[in-house]
Amino acid sequence: MGVVIGKGSIKKLKSFVDELSPYKTAIITNTTLEKLWLGKILEQVSATPIVIPDGEEFKSLETARQIWKELLEIGFTRKSLIIGLGGGVVTDLAAFVASTFMRGTYLGLIPTTLLAQVDAAIGGKTGINFEGKNIIGTFYLPEFVITDPETLKTLPEVEILNGLGEVVKYGILDSGVYRKLKFFRGIDEGLIGECVNVKLRIVEKDMRERGRRRILNLGHTVGHAMEKVSGYRIKHGFAVSIGLMASALIAEKINGFDSGKVEELLDRFNLPKKHSFEPKELLKVMKMDKKAWYGRLVFVLPEDIGKVAVREVDEKTVSTVLEAMRDDSGHN
Ligand SMILES: NC(=O)c1ccc[n+]([C@@H]2O[C@H](COP(=O)([O-])OP(=O)(O)OC[C@H]3O[C@@H](n4cnc5c(N)ncnc54)[C@H](O)[C@@H]3O)[C@@H](O)[C@H]2O)c1
Repeated sequence: MGVVIGKGSIKKLKSFVDELSPYKTAIITNTTLEKLWLGKILEQVSATPIVIPDGEEFKSLETARQIWKELLEIGFTRKSLIIGLGGGVVTDLAAFVASTFMRGTYLGLIPTTLLAQVDAAIGGKTGINFEGKNIIGTFYLPEFVITDPETLKTLPEVEILNGLGEVVKYGILDSGVYRKLKFFRGIDEGLIGECVNVKLRIVEKDMRERGRRRILNLGHTVGHAMEKVSGYRIKHGFAVSIGLMASALIAEKINGFDSGKVEELLDRFNLPKKHSFEPKELLKVMKMDKKAWYGRLVFVLPEDIGKVAVREVDEKTVSTVLEAMRDDSGHN
């Protein structure tokens, strides 16, 4: 998989497409990106745009079905190319469609949110929501990923913050990213590139999440539970931020980790650290998580910056920490 990250890299799309020389090309995007960035693509390559409505609810089997149908109608083959242009919703869906249509077409991704650039478009997980989030999906690697930080210029501030939740996670997993965040000078190709490298290094050794890849779930045990309990009203990156704080505080109790290091990063970006959920409800959901181990509470815990371990944690410790993090003043 070739990942290119750089200012203006979107202009390199033509050379990637020329090299693959696909029979046909289709671009899956949504109505928001259609107005902002689709033109930049169509001026380089001749392709059929497939535009879906904007929203997580369209990462669905029904949308996939409509796209499969459209691909058949335009005579798409396996030697054809699907390009996903958008945030994680579009890149997950485009990758799912590419991996399933005729057992797999060529795939290229152009992630346009910070979250998709550092996370969703990297690592080969595809998916759609079906009776639950990301229930149906495949592992499928794209031929190329083009990440242009320029596309973030049109991204609303709240979506930048959403992505920063995951960026802070990389900062705990890796001391290089941590230093970049401590001396933060803005989101640029250097920071995005370091985050991508952290993920690629981990995924390379364990694409199907049988072992090491689990460490990427740092902050997600509590984060996913909050998303679920809130009916997905809380943004993923914000849930992860609170989840990171929870992991840091649990780690402090278990191995003496200095949770102040995580708190400092979250404060720097004004990311949330408190929640207004009922700890009992969160615990119930955590035990049923698809990534949980048969009802046990398993956490990725920092031991130091750049060093984490996967540990089972007793319910009492988790509930004490969640209770201490409560703030019922109406945030979240
Ligand atoms: N496959 C994976 O490994 C993985 C990892 C993390 C998240 N995800 C998935 O990613 C999805 C969330 O992704 P997201 O946070 O990018 O949300 P999103 O795709 O919904 O994008 C957020 C909003 O920003 C808009 N947008 C995107 N790029 C823009 C731009 N450059 N300028 C202006 N507006 C723009 C979108 O239209 C949307 O309204 C979830 O479905 C999640 O399951 C997948």
